[in-house]
Amino acid sequence: MVRPSNLLGLLVHGSMAVALSARDMDSSNDAAAAATDATSDSANRADFGKPGGAGKPGHGSGLGGASRPPQDDDENPPSTTPLAGSDASPWANWLSLGGTAVTKPTVASWGTNRLDVFVTGTTSELYHWWSSVVGTWSSVESLGGELHSSPVAVSVGENYLDVFALGRDDDIAYTSWNGNSWSGFTSLSDGNGYAFQTAPLVVTSGYRLDVFGLGLDSIIQRRTRLTPFNSFSEEWEAINDPGTNFEALNGTVSFGSAVWSQGDLHLFAVGTAGSHSELYWNKFDGGDQGSWEELGGILLSQPAAVAWGNGYIDVFVVGTDYQLYDNRYDGSRWSDWFPLGGTLESTPVVVADPANTFKVYAVGTDSGVYLKEWNGSEFSDWQDLNGTAIWTPAAASYDIGKVEVFALDTSHSLRYTGSL
Ligand SMILES: *[C@@H]1O[C@H](CO)[C@@H](O)[C@H](O)[C@H]1NC(C)=O
Ligand SMILES: *[C@@H]1O[C@H](CO)[C@@H](O)[C@H](O)[C@H]1NC(C)=O
Ligand SMILES: *[C@@H]1O[C@H](CO)[C@@H](O)[C@H](O)[C@H]1NC(C)=O
Repeated sequence: MVRPSNLLGLLVHGSMAVALSARDMDSSNDAAAAATDATSDSANRADFGKPGGAGKPGHGSGLGGASRPPQDDDENPPSTTPLAGSDASPWANWLSLGGTAVTKPTVASWGTNRLDVFVTGTTSELYHWWSSVVGTWSSVESLGGELHSSPVAVSVGENYLDVFALGRDDDIAYTSWNGNSWSGFTSLSDGNGYAFQTAPLVVTSGYRLDVFGLGLDSIIQRRTRLTPFNSFSEEWEAINDPGTNFEALNGTVSFGSAVWSQGDLHLFAVGTAGSHSELYWNKFDGGDQGSWEELGGILLSQPAAVAWGNGYIDVFVVGTDYQLYDNRYDGSRWSDWFPLGGTLESTPVVVADPANTFKVYAVGTDSGVYLKEWNGSEFSDWQDLNGTAIWTPAAASYDIGKVEVFALDTSHSLRYTGSL
């Protein structure tokens, strides 16, 4: 634990309006870097092309050989040693916001050129940077709290932000920005003692916001808020309560991703029995839960789903062979899993931007940050964005065709790059 006085020292990098260049920050990392260069080639392995195309494996066939359960990479650093290889400048083309994070970052955008990025700091408080002019950042501010997980930031509209996390009693706590001030943290558990395992899943549709929490009892609970001015629904609603439709999710449940598409909410969770982890899907008709269906796969990561085009949903996972896999829903059926190459270690992150296109980011087993884009008809090859990152990155679109991606370096300091 770092004392507050030290923390201030560590966070001082963020206190300049113009971020430091990555180069200025890199010398200590370079010195510590290992000399292996097994890096980008492996992450540019064969791209098996598009959904339904040649090379599509049968059900789950490309995802065999499970040995590792899905990981909550919030809390568990990758087991491999980050490699910078012979690259003299692993963070070339990245800028630094500084800070010292103990969780992965989260980012939201409520309007053109606006980005708000958050991490949990070493004192378990929520730390915040914001930008409303491209390339110019606020100094870092603490928003207090006692966070036991990574934060999850969303915006339901211009000038609104909500940030959720596991709170002091492993309840779900949140703080809201209403355009003028932060509300301070409020518990969603209202003192009923309900405890959760991990950061909640939060999904928005217009002003509506749904929060899913994974209870210590493996039951997924939901609360809904219909407008930023209203309070949340009174009670937690169990989504996979024994006696309703829990059967579908055998064994241990973990999160998770959720998207709205065509007026329906789609929730994804991982069920693990022994060493076997599969993806499950629950389509909520409007807001009301349906039953769980098995989407299969044998996966290492949590899922990341994106809604795009006219009713399409793509859900991505990292398979046990470390490749990215995609399963595509066309509004009525799933394509089954198809491999997209790469040698990945983090949960993927996907951002729709603009209509009909999206970008998938992930950290490779070489700790580089990688990008694959869908342009509406094809996937690009993997692009190496450089970096020596830990944990899952965060990304958000702040203008049409513009996405900023945030990642933590091996000093747990925040870096970003994008489509400037
Ligand atoms: C879950 O377990 C039950 C009882 O063992 C079994 O009948 C069912 O097929 C399992 N479901 C899945 C999706 O594996
Ligand atoms: C997507 O990329 C492919 C390959 O570069 C290109 O042939 C195609 O025209 C692009 N499609 C769109 C909609 O931009
Ligand atoms: C990665 O770093 C190299 C220099 O080490 C640089 O030439 C290249 O443009 C960088 N790639 C990106 C996507 O920024």
